[in-house]
Amino acid sequence: MAVTDPIRLTNLLASSRFLKACRREATDATPIWLMRQAGRYMPEYRALRAKHSMLDLCKNPALACEVTMQPMQLGVDAAILFADILLPLEPMGAPFEFAKGEGPVVHDPIASRAQIDALRVIDADDGLGYVLEAIKTIKKELNGRVPLIGFAGAPFTLASYLIEGGKSTHFAKTKKLMYGDPDSWNALMGKLAEVVRRYLVAQIAAGADCVQLFDSWVGQLSPDDYREYVQPHVKHVLSGLGHEVPIIHFGTGTSTLLELQREAGGDVIGLDWRTPLADGWKRVGHDRAVQGNMDPTVLFAPLDVVKKHAKRVLDAAGGRPGHIFNLGHGILPETPVATVKALVDFVHEASSKK
Ligand code: CP3
Repeated sequence: MAVTDPIRLTNLLASSRFLKACRREATDATPIWLMRQAGRYMPEYRALRAKHSMLDLCKNPALACEVTMQPMQLGVDAAILFADILLPLEPMGAPFEFAKGEGPVVHDPIASRAQIDALRVIDADDGLGYVLEAIKTIKKELNGRVPLIGFAGAPFTLASYLIEGGKSTHFAKTKKLMYGDPDSWNALMGKLAEVVRRYLVAQIAAGADCVQLFDSWVGQLSPDDYREYVQPHVKHVLSGLGHEVPIIHFGTGTSTLLELQREAGGDVIGLDWRTPLADGWKRVGHDRAVQGNMDPTVLFAPLDVVKKHAKRVLDAAGGRPGHIFNLGHGILPETPVATVKALVDFVHEASSKK
């Protein structure tokens, strides 16, 4: 039966495993969701992609809702909005495409101060209204079953795509601007941070129950450089979101940055698989929740190996309230769906307090 009473719906969600774990409250079992849980490893997703481009899926709220719902059959404890971290770049004045086999391509990468000055500091309504519509559509479709996670890219990760024009190995152009022209760097990061802050505030207002900031490539930086060139901008985003919903702060390759990420903000800190979970949590501090951290490639192994690794992660968390099981980074495209389903079931069973 549909729950239509907004107060009942709010209560239902507040007692969800996922949101309780974000608040470090005890749960009946460890919640699990997976980064990139909607995507190419699922046959249903590939079937839709055969008919629509990636950007069409993002820009059509009904389709974005359909894709968001696809992994719900796996029994995960949260849904994540189907969108992409790069979407704000287009209305800011830096259009891009997802080129086949190449990943994202920004048509006119940032190479001058004039280009930075020309970027627009937009409101989410101004060019990203389709994402907010998608959130409203998904919330109706979920009907309180599980919480919905909204998200955005963090300033450093977005700046790296804007400057490199796509994916990068050494981030040399990005760092050249950062070290060589800190004034322009801060102008660019400041604009990105304010757009991301407004975008996440709008996602929360549209109904997101939690938001995750993806700083996927920030592990490229030393702690000193993170503190100097990035942390103030992440603080600007995360201190400007209010306290209505929990915030997940995620990065990869961050084993030396965890304390600084914690300082920058977030109720939940993401850990990748390179940092053993128990060590990572100690460094983050037990007064914050953590999310992670199985290696996504373990999902290509036989089930007994997958279970061994999942168990290791659960044991490292030691049943302490405030652990959200996830991979250390997104699911890879060729991952077997049956293994993903088996992982979700295993995490619930092995952590069950009943
Ligand atoms: O997690 C989810 O299920 C929600 C959807 C989601 C996508 N991208 C869909 C997507 C999320 C949360 C993202 C975030 C994202 N996008 C990040 C941060 C997370 C991470 O993985 O580090 C980054 C760096 C991007 C940028 C991006 N988008 C890249 C590098 C690529 C190409 C790489 C690839 O996997 O092909 C994309 C495209 C993209 N975003 C796809 C999906 C499902 C594949 C598009 C397709 O169908 O071809």
